[in-house]
This record gives sequence, C-alpha cells and structure tokens, in this order.
Amino acid sequence: MRSKSLVFNTNQTSDFYNKISSKYSNDDEKYGASFDKNSSTISLCDNRKYLNFAVQEAATLTVGSGYKYSRHCHSDQFKKDFPELRNHSFYIIKTNDTENGIHLIVQRHSPFKGFLGYGAYKDVYSTKTLSLHEEKKHFVRALLRNDRERTLFQKTIEINKDLLNYRNVLGGVYVNYNSSCPRHLGQEKQILFTEKMNIDGSEVAEKSQRMSDIDYLLRCCRDVALGLWIMHSKGISHGDIKPENIMIEHHNDKEETFKRAALIDLECGEKPSESEEYVNIKGTLAWLGPDFIPGLGIHTMYLFPMDIFSFGLTMYYWLTGTDPEDLIPLDDSMDFDNRKAYLWAKDKDATPEFKQLQEYAKIGSGETDDKDPSPEHRLCHLILECLDPMMHNRPSAQKLLKKIAEIQSAHRMQSQT
Ligand SMILES: Nc1ncnc2c1ncn2[C@@H]1O[C@H](COP(=O)(O)OP(=O)(O)O)[C@@H](O)[C@H]1O
Ligand SMILES: [Mg+2]
Repeated sequence: MRSKSLVFNTNQTSDFYNKISSKYSNDDEKYGASFDKNSSTISLCDNRKYLNFAVQEAATLTVGSGYKYSRHCHSDQFKKDFPELRNHSFYIIKTNDTENGIHLIVQRHSPFKGFLGYGAYKDVYSTKTLSLHEEKKHFVRALLRNDRERTLFQKTIEINKDLLNYRNVLGGVYVNYNSSCPRHLGQEKQILFTEKMNIDGSEVAEKSQRMSDIDYLLRCCRDVALGLWIMHSKGISHGDIKPENIMIEHHNDKEETFKRAALIDLECGEKPSESEEYVNIKGTLAWLGPDFIPGLGIHTMYLFPMDIFSFGLTMYYWLTGTDPEDLIPLDDSMDFDNRKAYLWAKDKDATPEFKQLQEYAKIGSGETDDKDPSPEHRLCHLILECLDPMMHNRPSAQKLLKKIAEIQSAHRMQSQT
C-alpha cells in the first residue's frame, strides 16, 4: 500500500496544487477521524498501536526521508486494524534515530484549510500530527506552486536532511512518491515537511512594529546569526537571506513574548565541494551582495560572506524599515545587475541612506568620544561591517553572533543603571 519511493528526478514541476484544489471540498469531517479544528494534533483511542505501527514502518527509513501512504491504497486489513486512518492519506517521516524522531503526519483533505503562507515557489499548509510522544513536533507541508519552475537538486534534499534538528534553522524532509490518486495516477510528486513555527496571519505587520523594540530586534538578530553559524560550520550557505525567509515564533503567553527566530527555505543553499569553483546564483536580487558575476555565478569562496551581506541588509531593514535598494542600489546601468558598482562608488556616490548609516555607525565604533553608545549605534556599526564591499572584511557568522551578544549585554547594563 506504500506509494513507491522514487529516485529523485531533478526537472519536475508539480501541478498538484491546482488539480487537488478543485477536487476536494472544504470538509475534513466528511472523511472520518476526529480532527480538532483548533489543534494540530489528532487524538486516537490507542496511540500505542499507532506508534508501534509507525516504528515498524520506519525501520527501513533513513534519517531525513519518509513514505507516503495514499488513502487510495490502504488494504482492507489496514482499514480494519486502523479505522481512524482508513480514509486518510498520511506520511511517516524520520527526523532522527530515536523513537522521538518518527512522525506520523496526516494530510488534510482540503488544501485551503490550514493555509499558512506562500513564497515565490511554495504554498505552505499546516498538517495534523499524531501525538505519539509528549514533546511532539508539528510539521508544515510545502507544495511547489505550479506556476513556477524551480529545479530541485539532490543537493537541496541533502542540505535539508543535514539541518533537521536545530532551533534556529529549519531543514526538512522531502518525500518523493508516485501519486496513487486516480486523477494523477503515476505522476511524480515531491513534498517538503518542515517543523511548524507557531506564527499567525498578522505576523508580518506585527513583526515590523515589534522590531522598534531594540531588545526584540537584537534577539531576532542573535538567533539568525546562530542559524547562520550552524549552517556555515557545516559548510552550507543559505543563499537567500531576507526577512521573508526568517520566521519568528512567539510564546503562547499574554504578551506573546519572543520565543525564537529561525531560517527557513533552504532551497538556494549550497554545499560546495573543494573542487567546485563557481556555482549558479539563486537568491533574491534585491538582497544579494556585490560578490557574484552575472552570467558566471559566484565563487564558492564568497558564498558565506554573501550570506553575511544579505543579513546586513536584513538587519538594516529591521532597524529602519528601509528597502535594501534604497540603501545600496542595484546597478543595471553597467550591465552588472548587482551591486558591483558599489565597490568603487561607495564613498563618492553613496545614497543619503548609506551616508546616514556611516555617520550613525561612527558612534558605535569607538571613533568618537561617546563612551557608551546606544545599542542602535552599535548595531549600525555591525551592519556596516557586514556590508563591507570586500568580503574579507565582513565578520564570520560566529563573530557576528559574539558581537550581537556583546551589544545585548551592553544594553542590559545600560538598562540597569
Ligand atoms: N516552518 C514553517 N512554519 C510556519 N510557516 C511557514 C513555515 N515555512 C514556511 N512557512 C510559510 O510559508 C511561506 C513560504 O515559505 P518558503 O519556504 O519561504 O517558500 P518559498 O520557497 O516559496 O519562498 C513563508 O513565508 C511562511 O509564511
Ligand atoms: Mg521564501
């Protein structure tokens, strides 16, 4: 009954979303089982039975992979033994080698229900996870949008696998299968499961407001620096650092205090081998640094410093609300289409925003008499370091983390006095 696992095919775009959206109604209950509308877990009468089943099935899975079980293929015996799942498609995935790393995830029938967000390439939905363990992780299910072509490489799958169990960077599990649904029988599908971040719809507007709280902003910066450090120390670049690819999660308390920030969307990531010199550039133009050569790509030596540059732009955006292109414009007049011109035009032709940043950063650098600059000044100094045109002058992720922690503790001292 398990859908056949595939050898990964790199050139496949899925039109799954469009087709399925017209097919299913908005009615989960109609298909049986006890979904609690407000929760992302399902209650079953006999969890142990389902756990045993999942553990047994997962025995042949490697960490970072999974199977799909289509509701069209459940055997009569299965339906008898596991009545709660008889009408549901579900997945079993493995995120680590213990029992806690085995997850049984139930697909919701309607793609419209549980919609969480979309980017340029994916639509993301919440799923229902069986609460088999006390500390249960919840997952989101990402479908490739059918109007976009993005080649998915084996490398992306490996990168996602390598970053499965971290707090500040969310790798995921790709499940590849042949569809068993009569409508698209045999079609190859890929679905990505990532740990669910507890965010809601108002998040984007709210986020920019909350960033005016410097404590909050510094916590976000610190978590991202940590996420970047984890990635870079594994030899992996992110490649698409920008505010939309950073999820911020809050506690469920009254004040919705900050819980964590995490990097998502690792599809532009690279893990270059030593012999690789240039790789294609994949990120978002507005947030990219001056380090790539249009047409040729980016030297692998520049991949990590480019993440730092993009993060500099992100921190600047969080702090001021200013678009990165207003700070350092893209230069299409010279057929470069990136920020190459900035390498020599930095002082002469700098934008008013950039000059202001330079001025503000001076105070945070110890260049002036101000013995105890504000955290904003210090952060501007750090942002300017991240935006250095010469990649060798930019801080490493590890150094960045250390400096953000220093700004936080200086701020704490200031607040106490
Ligand atoms: N782990 C997650 N938890 C909650 N929401 C998520 C999660 N991952 C993605 N999303 C939502 O889906 C959107 C698109 O995800 P992303 O991976 O950035 O796709 P794309 O490749 O299309 O940019 C995000 O901006 C966010 O709103
Ligand atoms: Mg994205």
